[in-house]
Amino acid sequence: MEKIVSLCKRRGFVFQSSEIYGGLNGCWDYGPLGVELKRNLKDYWWRVMTREREDIVGMDGSILMNRNVWKASGHEETFSDPMVDCRNCKARLRADQLPDKNGEKYCPNCGSRDLTEPRAFNLMFKTYVGATEDESSITYLRPETAQAIFVQFKNVLETSRKKLPFGIAQIGKAFRNEINPRNFTFRSREFEQMELEYFCKPEQGPELLKYWLEERLKFYENIGIPREKLHVHDIPAEERAFYSKGTYDIEFEFPFGIQELEGVAYRTDYDLTQHIKHSGKPLDYFDEETKEKLVPHVIEPSAGVDRTALALICNAYDEETVTDEKGKSETRIVLRFHPRIAPIKVGVFPLLKNKEELVAKAREVASLLKPHMMTFYDEAGAIGRRYRRQDEAGTPFGITIDFETLGERGDELRDTVTLRHRDSMKQERVKISELLSILLPQIQ
Ligand code: GAP
Repeated sequence: MEKIVSLCKRRGFVFQSSEIYGGLNGCWDYGPLGVELKRNLKDYWWRVMTREREDIVGMDGSILMNRNVWKASGHEETFSDPMVDCRNCKARLRADQLPDKNGEKYCPNCGSRDLTEPRAFNLMFKTYVGATEDESSITYLRPETAQAIFVQFKNVLETSRKKLPFGIAQIGKAFRNEINPRNFTFRSREFEQMELEYFCKPEQGPELLKYWLEERLKFYENIGIPREKLHVHDIPAEERAFYSKGTYDIEFEFPFGIQELEGVAYRTDYDLTQHIKHSGKPLDYFDEETKEKLVPHVIEPSAGVDRTALALICNAYDEETVTDEKGKSETRIVLRFHPRIAPIKVGVFPLLKNKEELVAKAREVASLLKPHMMTFYDEAGAIGRRYRRQDEAGTPFGITIDFETLGERGDELRDTVTLRHRDSMKQERVKISELLSILLPQIQ
């Protein structure tokens, strides 16, 4: 993990939030490479979950909502972690994560056994809406994106004219005042979720739960996370929320252990029923076939953007020993991202920066590619160094413009370039006019 955290900072994937002021625990900023990685991940999720399907539509709800939403959903009452205080060093700790020795819990900071009794600590960030800070203006930063989907169920149903089963998808920020933010971005206080609420008739629920588990596993494979590194945890009934008829956690082998990436939960009609009760509004569905009204059941695949981005970086990280042309061996750090989610798709390099024609041609090639893919132009330093820099950023393709490209070694090679592949380091000669048709299918 140390190597990964250091690479993330060095190469501009992730920085500590407010770093120059000492940071803010549990908050992170994504740099130039990190933001591209996250965007590619979210775009791919959006594409496969909405645009490529006819049964799912999207929405984008507000982060601040009426406080009654959180009363109805149960978050105000029960969205809490058990917490203890260490009387010796004053640390506040999650009661369920305390280490123990001979059956006795102790403080991981100072070793003291002098701990308070566990108390419930609500994870929602409280805020006030408007000019007065009193009980009537309280609300919370949303701790999940899902509730906006439930409360807009009727509006979306009526405007999209979908029939069951159908889904509503959303990507957005969520906030939880985690007691122990840890493992880099894995458990943060501000993070992003990609959530789908897939509404169905009650009898379709069990089958659709299995269907969505498989779809979601395929998703991770399609962004380059092999099935062997994914684990499915079937949550036993006694550990599930009381309304859930089945929940699977999809987990990944992080360097700090096997941990959850996503939950796929069969939530029955709990959420819609709660909002019907609290709002007094009908959030039901009229079945044209049976001429009956029903409250749909829901399957919810809920994934974390930041956790998946971290899993992608951990999965991609590799070190290998390579020997250069002079016979010197060195360590090559390479991020083997799937080209689909790699932050930069292609590096474009003139062989020499002091040769005007090479630079002009390289800039021309970069301009050709830029509207279609994230392209990085680099003319600084030896070509081997430039390749290494892109290996470390996870760029799957490198294009070098050399004297052959200019036609100085005969007409046959004019307007051809060297295309280098990150993983194999193999190079091939290709025509500039063919670059888009070679690269585009590999990055989509
Ligand atoms: N609507 C259901 C829901 O929010 P959850 O299991 O609490 O379920 C879903 O959260 C996903 O959101 C998790 O699997 C994880 O990927 C992400 N997530 C939750 N808490 C997080 C945190 N503190 N930091 C980063 N990601 C988090």
